[in-house]
Amino acid sequence: MNVPLIKTTLPGPKAKALIERDKTVVSPSYTRGYPLVIERGDGAIVEDVDGNVFLDCAAGIAVNATGHSHPDIVRAITDQARKFLHMSGTDFYYEPQVRLAEEIASIVPIRGGIRSFFANSGTEAIEACIKLSRYATGRHNIIAFLGGFHGRSMGSLSLTSSKAIQRRGFGPLLSGVYHAPYADCYRCPLGLRAENCAAECVDFIEHQLFVHLVSPDEVAALVVEPIQGEGGYVVPPDQFLQRLRELTTKHGILFVDDEVQSGMGRSGKMFAIEHVGVEPDVVAIAKGIASGLPLGVAAARSGLMAWPPGAHASTFGGNPVSCAAALETIRLLKESLVANAADVGGHLKSGLHALMDKHPSIGDVRGRGLMIGVELVRDRQTKERATTERDAVVSAAFARGLLLLGAGRNAIRFSPPLVLTRDQADTAVRIFDEALTEVETRRR
Ligand SMILES: Cc1ncc(COP(=O)(O)O)c(C=O)c1O
Repeated sequence: MNVPLIKTTLPGPKAKALIERDKTVVSPSYTRGYPLVIERGDGAIVEDVDGNVFLDCAAGIAVNATGHSHPDIVRAITDQARKFLHMSGTDFYYEPQVRLAEEIASIVPIRGGIRSFFANSGTEAIEACIKLSRYATGRHNIIAFLGGFHGRSMGSLSLTSSKAIQRRGFGPLLSGVYHAPYADCYRCPLGLRAENCAAECVDFIEHQLFVHLVSPDEVAALVVEPIQGEGGYVVPPDQFLQRLRELTTKHGILFVDDEVQSGMGRSGKMFAIEHVGVEPDVVAIAKGIASGLPLGVAAARSGLMAWPPGAHASTFGGNPVSCAAALETIRLLKESLVANAADVGGHLKSGLHALMDKHPSIGDVRGRGLMIGVELVRDRQTKERATTERDAVVSAAFARGLLLLGAGRNAIRFSPPLVLTRDQADTAVRIFDEALTEVETRRR
C-alpha cells in the first residue's frame, strides 16, 4: 500500500460530517489539533473514514505500542473476552491479573519483591502513587517539576504544571505540592551550558524549597518523569535523576518514577529510567502497557505497598481484557519491539537531526528510542519559541499524510507505534522536511 495516500481535501466529506456531530455533543475541552477521523489502523498506518491513508507518528498519544490492532493483541483480547469481561479484581481473583502482576514484578527496575495496584489510566496510577506515598511515609507533601504532566484528576492535576490552562478554574488543588525546575538543558533554568552541567537545578530543592518552604522530613514523595512528555519531550542529563535519587534517599523521600509516557519500551529500554541506572521506589505505568486498552499500574516494593484491605481499590482497575492485552504487549515488547524502538528511534533521530542543516527553525532535536522531540524556534540565537509555526507544521504534516502531535509550547513529538520500520521513519523525515519548508517559506 502507498503510504501516505491523501485522496480528498482534509477533512473529507465523511470526516467533516462526523466532526459536525461531535461539536454539539462531545465535551469541547478536548484538544483536537487537526481533523482526523479514524476508520481503521494497521501497524503504523491509519486510514480515515474517507479512505485517506496516514503514517502514524502519534500512536494515540504514545499508546499503541504494538501498532494498531496487532493480530496477537486482538487474539489475546478476543480469547479473554469469550471467557469473561469483568469480575472486579479488587473483590475477586482471576489469573490474568495475577500473571500480569508477576510480569510487572519481573520488568520494573526495582529490586526485590514487587506488588502492583491496578487502575484504568495514567492519572489513576498517579493518584495511587500519591496515596501510597502518603500512607507509607505518614508525610503529606509532594515535590513535582515545572513543565511536568501527571494527569488531570484533582490529585495528579496538583502535580501537573505543563500548561496553566490545564489548572485554570479548578483550584484550590491539593495542598502541600511544591514545584522545582526540571533539567531542560536547551533552556537551562540557571543559564548554564549543558556541557558543564552537574544538574545544579537539583540544588533548588535542597537550598530553596527545604530552607524556605517545606521541611524534608515532611515530604512523602518526589514525582518525576524521566523524560518530560507533554512538557516537550525534554531529556534531562543523567546526573539530574541520579542526584534526585541521592537527595530522596538522604531524606527518606519516596522516588516516584512516572513512566506513563516514557515506559513500556518507548525509550529503547523497557523503562526510561533504566538509561541512567536509577532505582525508583514506585513506578507509574499506563498508556502503552495494554496497546490501547485502558490500564494503569502503580508498582512498588512489596514492603512499601503494605496498605490494608479497603485502603485503596477500583471497580474496573485491572480489567481482565486489559490484563490479557498487557500480557501480550509485554511479550511482543520483550521479543522485538523494545529493540526496534532503540534501532529505528536512533535512525529517526539522526534523520531529524540532519534536517537542522536545512531548517533554521529547528532549535533542538532530542529524545531516546521512539520518544523524540523537535523544538522549533524563530531564531537559534534567541531561542524565541515558534509556537504558531509549530502548530502550522503539525497541520502541514497532516495535510501530507503524517500524524504528529505538539508537546510543550513549541516542540513536536514523534511518538510512533514501536513497530515503525526504518523505511517508515525515512518517510516521516521526508514529509516533516516538506512541512517545515512550507511553513518557513510562508513566513518569509
Ligand atoms: C507522564 C504522564 N503521566 C500521567 C499521564 C496521565 O495519563 P492519562 O491521560 O491516562 O490519565 C500522562 C498523560 O499524558 C503522562 O504523559
